[in-house]
Amino acid sequence: MIKVSKLKEAVSAYGTPLYIYDLDVIEKQYLKLKNSMSNIKDLKIYFAAKALSNISILNYFKSLGTGLETSSIEEVKIGLKCGFNKDDILYSPNGVGLEEIIEANNLGVKLNLDSLESIEAFTENYSEREISIRINPNIYAGGNERISVGHKDSKFGISEDKLSRLVKIEQEGKLIVSGIHVHTGSDILKNEELELTVNKIFKIARKFKNLKSINLGGGIKVQYFDGDSKTDLKEYSNVICRELDKFTLETNRNIQIILEPGKFLTSESGFFLTKVNNIKKSYNTKFAQVNSGFNHFIRPTLYNSYHEIIKLNKDNDEKETYNVVGYICEKDTFAQQRTINKLKVGDLICFKNAGAYCFSMSSNYNSRVKPAEACIIDNKIKLIRKRETVENLLKNQINIFVK
Ligand code: LLP
Repeated sequence: MIKVSKLKEAVSAYGTPLYIYDLDVIEKQYLKLKNSMSNIKDLKIYFAAKALSNISILNYFKSLGTGLETSSIEEVKIGLKCGFNKDDILYSPNGVGLEEIIEANNLGVKLNLDSLESIEAFTENYSEREISIRINPNIYAGGNERISVGHKDSKFGISEDKLSRLVKIEQEGKLIVSGIHVHTGSDILKNEELELTVNKIFKIARKFKNLKSINLGGGIKVQYFDGDSKTDLKEYSNVICRELDKFTLETNRNIQIILEPGKFLTSESGFFLTKVNNIKKSYNTKFAQVNSGFNHFIRPTLYNSYHEIIKLNKDNDEKETYNVVGYICEKDTFAQQRTINKLKVGDLICFKNAGAYCFSMSSNYNSRVKPAEACIIDNKIKLIRKRETVENLLKNQINIFVK
C-alpha cells in the first residue's frame, strides 16, 4: 500500500475528498496477469475502460501495451484521443441503436456485437466487415446479482439458440465472425465458474470457421479484505491452455486469447480519501459522517460491497465501532458496524480498493461536485483531474427565465 505519509501529502496538496491511484500497483497487476498467462502463446490484454477512465490512466495503459475494451461510443472516442490504435480498441455495446454501431464502424475500431437482430441490421450494409460476437453462455457467475450477466435472463450476449442462424448468415457470405466473446460477470467467486465458461466458449468456437480470437472477458476476482477469495490465475491459465491446445490440435488453427479485466488491473491501485465531518450518536448507533456520499463512491450502497477503512492519523490505539456514512440526503452507508481506530472530527480516513468502478460511477447527486483525482508516479504525486466547481455544474444548464 502507498505510504500513509504520501496520502497525507496528497491531501495537503489537493484536499478531500480525493481519489489517488498508485501507478506502480497497476503495472504490477498487469505484469502479474501477463506472467501467469505466459503459457498462452498469443495473448492480448485489453483494459476495461469503464473501471477507471481518466485519460492519464488510459495513457498509462497504452504505455504498458494493453488494448482498450469500450462499452460506449464516448469511450471509443476517448480511447482514440488517447492515441490507442484503432485495432487496439474493442467496442462492445449493449442496447445501442444501429447508428451508434455504424459510427464506431466508421471510426475503424473493432466491433463486438451482442444481438442477432442488430448484427442482421448491420450486415445489410457492411457484410465485408469482420466482427466479434458476444455469446450469452447461460452461466450464472459474478459477485452479486447486479454484476452477474451471463445467465439466461440477462440482457447481454447472443443466446445459444441463435448461433445456427449466425453460422448460416456467415455461410451465405453476409458476415465474417472473426472473434467470439464472453463476459459472464465481475468478481467471479470460483475458478470452477471460469472453467465452465472456458469449456463452453471453446465448444462454440468450433462452429465458426473464420475465427481468429476468443475473448474471455473480465471477472478476475481480487481480494477486498484479508481472507477474501481471489481468482487462482495459474489454474485459470491452465484451463485456457488445455482447451486451446485441444482446439489447435483439432482444427490446426492459431487463435489469439483476449482477456479484458477492469478490477484486476486497477482496484487495488486506488485509495479514496475523505475527512470526518461529524461523530454522531443516535439511539444505539455511533455514526462517523464523512465529507462524501454515494455520489462519489457508490459500491457499498449499490452492491453492499466491503471496502477496508483506515484512519490515516493514528493518534491512539483505541478502537470504536461506527456506521461510516456520507452526507447525501438518502441512506449512503459506506460501512455498517465497522470497528476502526477511534475517530474525531477532522480525522482523515481512507477507503481501499477504490481504483475500479469508484470515480467512474460517481455522479453529481445533491448537486455535489465530483472529487479530484491524483496519481503517484515515480514517487511523485500528480493531479489528474481537478475538483469540480459549481460553475462546472451550471455550465450546460440553461435558465429560460433569464433574458
Ligand atoms: N468486459 C466486459 C464486456 C464488461 O462488461 C466488463 C465489466 C469487463 C470486461 C471488466 O470486468 P471486471 O474485470 O472489472 O470484472 N460496477 C461493478 C462492476 C461492473 C462490471 C461491468 N462490466 C462493480 O463495481 O463491481
